Amino acid sequence: MRILMVCLGNICRSPLAEGIMDQKLKQAGIPYAIDSAGTGGWHSGERPDQRSVQVAARYGIDISHQKARKLRKEDLQHFDLILAMDQSNYRDIVQLSDPEEQNKVHLFLEFAGMGKKDVPDPWYGGPEDFEAVFQLLEEACQQSLSKILKYNTI
Ligand code: 4NP
Repeated sequence: MRILMVCLGNICRSPLAEGIMDQKLKQAGIPYAIDSAGTGGWHSGERPDQRSVQVAARYGIDISHQKARKLRKEDLQHFDLILAMDQSNYRDIVQLSDPEEQNKVHLFLEFAGMGKKDVPDPWYGGPEDFEAVFQLLEEACQQSLSKILKYNTI
């Protein structure tokens, strides 16, 4: 099972989603690969935003080693499940994908059955916004885990 988390800059939301899901999948003990990318390339090569690094560290997750990169067309082929943080990211991913790849692309919160569509972009926010994003992603990762484990058996 290869999972890709996607946001706009790949420095705030998707690195957190990658770090949280990595921990849960590791604990589940199944073979997996996880990565994240941004639909935009402005921050390529950078480490995650310090505010994301800090909130993750508070919950025992180290995302400081991650490096931002831009979503590539090959990603659509390589990954089994591509999870978009918001509707704008979703549209951009679908635009890059071939028709037969589009069923791999989901809005993360919809996939998780959270009753919401968008993980809010915390870029212009404060520490409390990063905390809220962390909590939302933690819940979404937990909720989507059983669905992912089911995918894995197919
Ligand atoms: P992310 O947040 O998509 O969650 O990584 C953003 C990071 C940077 C920018 C926008 C969103 N930016 O415009 O540079």
